[in-house]
Amino acid sequence: MSHQTVIVLDFGGQYNQLIARRVRECGVYCEVKPYTTPLEQIRAMEPIGIIFTGGPNSVYDPKSPQVDPAIFTWGVPILGICYGCQLMAHNLGGRVTEAQDDSAREYGKTETYFDTSCRLFKGLPAQGITWMSHGDYMEKVPEGFALVAHSGACPNVAICDESRGFYGVQYHPEVNHTEHGTDMIRNFLYEVCGAAGDWTMGDYKETAIRQIREKVGDGKVLLALSGGVDSSVAAALVAEAVGSQLTCVFVDHGLMRLNEGDEVEAAFKKWDINFVRANAEDLFLGKLAGVTEPERKRKIIGEEFIRVFEAEAKKIGQVDYLVQGTIYPDVIESGTGDAAVIKSHHNVGGLPDYVDFKEIIEPLRMLFKDEVRQLGRELGLPEYLVMRQPFPGPGLAIRVIGEITKEKLDTLRQADFIFRDEIAKAHLEGTMSQYFAVLTNMRSVGVMGDGRTYDYTLALRSVTTTDFMTADWTRIPYEVLDRVSVRIVNEVPHINRIVYDITSKPPATIEWE
Ligand code: XMP
Repeated sequence: MSHQTVIVLDFGGQYNQLIARRVRECGVYCEVKPYTTPLEQIRAMEPIGIIFTGGPNSVYDPKSPQVDPAIFTWGVPILGICYGCQLMAHNLGGRVTEAQDDSAREYGKTETYFDTSCRLFKGLPAQGITWMSHGDYMEKVPEGFALVAHSGACPNVAICDESRGFYGVQYHPEVNHTEHGTDMIRNFLYEVCGAAGDWTMGDYKETAIRQIREKVGDGKVLLALSGGVDSSVAAALVAEAVGSQLTCVFVDHGLMRLNEGDEVEAAFKKWDINFVRANAEDLFLGKLAGVTEPERKRKIIGEEFIRVFEAEAKKIGQVDYLVQGTIYPDVIESGTGDAAVIKSHHNVGGLPDYVDFKEIIEPLRMLFKDEVRQLGRELGLPEYLVMRQPFPGPGLAIRVIGEITKEKLDTLRQADFIFRDEIAKAHLEGTMSQYFAVLTNMRSVGVMGDGRTYDYTLALRSVTTTDFMTADWTRIPYEVLDRVSVRIVNEVPHINRIVYDITSKPPATIEWE
């Protein structure tokens, strides 16, 4: 079945797949294409609308990414976001310049006022918060365009030419910080592009299964199973596609949470799949000894992970494909195209050059966490597996800051368990997306009984988010934090101070390394 399609034309911003994710959320099929894609190719896909993304460049820089100007005369509706908005203005006779003073350069949450007679803002509040991140400014708006939103600092936050179906916004509607951002995108799709809403996650599942079958044929497939949501959903998807051709290998790198290795084994042994547990704690801790730099840790773990797989694969015989549960935020934050590298997520940046498989299959590569959960439900996975909080591939190695030792890992495991236990007892799991403890590398003076202590500071981290690209710190009630703090300091040796991390993402990331 073919679907109405929207093209997101990628100019290198950090949030481009998030735009695509919002479009899918509105029930419309969507593909992200690089800005260099020839116009004929885009036209051949018969999109009902095009979205220009943000990007780090300035449109007046001759080396900046451009579009074929013919895109503006073919009659397809266009929504330009941030750089995309400036690009449209620049091409259609407006003028974009570098903001000369700080008042015209906007960053962060900004009170914004909308003209709700414009189709883009139809039915939405006339005032709200938008997330701004731009250093350039539209000095002159192109002929035929109306100003349809403004902020205190900027008279032209949004522009439109309703007759041609051209809309531009300086802010980022795709990030959670923008109020009614998705509703605005929905208006563009339904009010402007005439979307019918003919796409669902069930379609995604069917398409993915078909593609996996076509690719794999009667080959053998190996899957990296961590027991987390992503690899479990990937396992269910591939199991549905190729059944007994699949073997799942669980690499226990010794960096799991308390009892986790045994729990994963118990859960998946029940499944009708080939399950192998590779115990590799000594190998990993040996390789990580003395390593303090976060990116080095990630690379080492990513590389050893693949080596252990290769060894397991050899035991199984010829393996043609390796499946990984990489999801979109792992891809983008490891750096793709013109976006900046934040962290090289293991599964992506950590891959060694030589991999002893024909090909790697990543069926979740374009999905965000909540979409993966939705797909898991489509595949009939139990709710406890689908709703598990995410756990990073490098495990506790990136939650022990600085040098990793078995003793520090054990300390962290105990503290992390108490934190999770108290959250469960307070029935707060549903209010937070991810919560864990971090063993900082800092020691400080305390007093216990009548004696002086000089021990580690433990940080508690909890965030609330839907997409994990942006996140807010969770407002955990003080009484709960207090119980966690008292228990950890009393029950876990070598911790004498607890702090709570109250930074959002951005500017911080969720994990500390
Ligand atoms: P950050 O720290 O980048 O985390 O804000 C975003 C989400 O990704 C998880 N994370 C990882 N997941 N391999 C993974 O599979 C990794 O290397 C990795 N690093 C971070 C993190 O736990 C959060 O959910």
